[in-house]
Parts: sequence; C-alpha cells; structure tokens
Amino acid sequence: MKFFIDTANLAQIKEAQELGVLDGVTTNPSLMAKEGIKDQDKIIQHYIDICNIVDGDVSAEVISTDFKGIVEEGEKLAALHPQIVVKVPMIKDGVKALKYFSSKGIRTNCTLIFSAGQALLAAKAGATYCSPFIGRLDDVSQDGLELIAQMRLIYDNYGYETQILAASVRHPIHIIKCAEIGADVATCPLSAITALLNHPLTDIGLAKFLSDAGKK
Ligand code: E4P
Repeated sequence: MKFFIDTANLAQIKEAQELGVLDGVTTNPSLMAKEGIKDQDKIIQHYIDICNIVDGDVSAEVISTDFKGIVEEGEKLAALHPQIVVKVPMIKDGVKALKYFSSKGIRTNCTLIFSAGQALLAAKAGATYCSPFIGRLDDVSQDGLELIAQMRLIYDNYGYETQILAASVRHPIHIIKCAEIGADVATCPLSAITALLNHPLTDIGLAKFLSDAGKK
C-alpha cells in the first residue's frame, strides 16, 4: 500500500519524505488555507515547492464546479509539474471532467466520495484515484472501512484500474485496516504515520538490549 501525506505543510512533507516511506501528497483548499496560502500565485508556487520535495504524485484540487471551469483549472494545474494529479469533486460536471481528463491523459483524483455508487461512477469515468473519506463517514456513524471493502470488491469484479485512495484517515488502525482490505493508497496526517512506529514492548526491549550491551 502506498503512503501519501495529507497536508500542505512543507515541514511535515519534508519530515515524511526523509522517513523514506512517502509515495505522494494530497492537498485540498482547507489544507492550503490552514497554511495561510490563499492567493493564486502563492498556491501555484506552493504546489511546485511540494513537487520539488517528494518523488510521487501531488493532488491539487480545482475549486470550479462547472465543466468548463474544472477543465480550464485542471489543465493549468496539470501543466505546472508532471507529478500533479488534478483533484475533482464528485459532482455531475466533475464526472464529465474526469472523462475528459482521462481522454487527454491527465491524471485525476476524484474527491468527496461517500458511497459505493459514487466510487463506481468515478471508475467508469476513468479517474486515476478515487478518494473515499473514511473518517468523515465514521463521524456520522457510518463505517468508513466498509466503503473501502465495497470499493475493493467492485473494482476487482470488473478490473477497474482506478486506485482506491483512502482519505480522511485519522489514526493508525485506519491505516492497518485499509492495508488488510487492500486499499491502494492511504493518505494520512503525519501523526498517523509516525504512530505506526510505536509499541511499548519495542521501547522496553530496546532499553534492555542497550543496558545489557553496556554490561561488562
Ligand atoms: C484528502 O484527499 C482529503 O481531502 C482529506 O483526507 C480530508 O480529510 P479530513 O476529513 O480530515 O478533512
């Protein structure tokens, strides 16, 4: 399973890249705003800065909601850097735009997926990635991981090449369960990735090895 980091924070992206397990980055308008990046020139420069830190795919989200606007915005974003993947919302004009981008060889990430039907449409339209928001489903008492399992089954039934990009990941159990089910990618906050490192028996065992190594 690939690991993407779900942030626009350059320091966190660098830290994950240096850990050596990072395969890409996802951003969204809220994550960009959190870093204080709102004006267009700064947004563009920020995407380029992110691409220069990581080796993998970097999702950049359109804010237009009509077909023409999504296409114009997406084409500009895709032209910024070969690592850019255009993130498109799951709406009617978004589905049309996914199909258009697919025909032009522009890679896409269909975002705001909350049902298997939406995931099926995104795959049929040729999305490169499809992003179910599992944490936000959990927040409303629906099992986000169940959606990942449904998507895996449906995509495998028909050989869809669209990659399942588990999003809105909140904690290490989400990551482990996504890997068990067979999500292609999990995009996570840095805290969830580094939490995978921890086990108290590792700390106790290491302390004992180090103390024994120090014995004469
Ligand atoms: C990533 O592509 C999504 O935009 C993101 O994971 C949403 O996460 P949130 O539910 O924590 O905002």
